[in-house]
Amino acid sequence: MKVLMINGSPRQQGNCTILLDEMRKVFASYDVEVDEIRVGNKDISGCLACGYCHTHGECVKKDIVNESQIKFKQADGIVIVSPVYYGSPNGTLISFLDRIFYSSNYSKKYKVGAAFAVARRGGTTASFDMLNKYFTIAGMPVASGDYWNNGFGREKGEIRQDLEGLRNARIVAQRMVFLMRAIKDAKENYPELLKEEERISTHFIR
Ligand SMILES: Cc1cc2nc3c(=O)[nH]c(=O)nc-3n(C[C@H](O)[C@H](O)[C@H](O)COP(=O)(O)O)c2cc1C
Repeated sequence: MKVLMINGSPRQQGNCTILLDEMRKVFASYDVEVDEIRVGNKDISGCLACGYCHTHGECVKKDIVNESQIKFKQADGIVIVSPVYYGSPNGTLISFLDRIFYSSNYSKKYKVGAAFAVARRGGTTASFDMLNKYFTIAGMPVASGDYWNNGFGREKGEIRQDLEGLRNARIVAQRMVFLMRAIKDAKENYPELLKEEERISTHFIR
């Protein structure tokens, strides 16, 4: 089993990274392989809506988004963590997520998702909601915790004092493992449930 962590923070050893490290320990104890992509310190611009990916299965911009596709495709679970900037996930992360979700032409269905927002004080639930929207448009089950996944701290390392937040991160990691294993079993035992109706795509003028 493989989990891909997508870390929005630009800060080395910042609070988002500490939260992910807490999850890593749980994944390691269940032999889950973990990879991490740090996007916050990269120069990543947004989607151009050019449509290149519709025919090429990758983004027209040849950068970390295309380079990350293999890891994304192979992952059984995806963790996204973002620092809260002005009440939202940070802009670089959003640019990355818009483009990787939109440009990939493989199914993300049944990859297990979990999102976390880390802040000094406010904006975590709004950010958490935004991040979950990537999963819930893609047929991805969401592993939830015992609270809306957040962590608190301003200066690097302060999140270590957020014992509830770190415990919640560990619990979510464990539930991700549970779901990933359950989905693997179900795919083997109930293949008929993978057959679905054809997609219907409408909008409000036709
Ligand atoms: C540009 C910027 C905007 C921020 N906006 C918020 C905010 O809206 N709410 C909040 O509680 N903290 C805000 N913060 C604080 C960060 O969310 C906080 O320091 C967090 O721990 C950063 O995570 P990191 O250490 O992983 O980078 C902001 C920080 C920066 C740099």
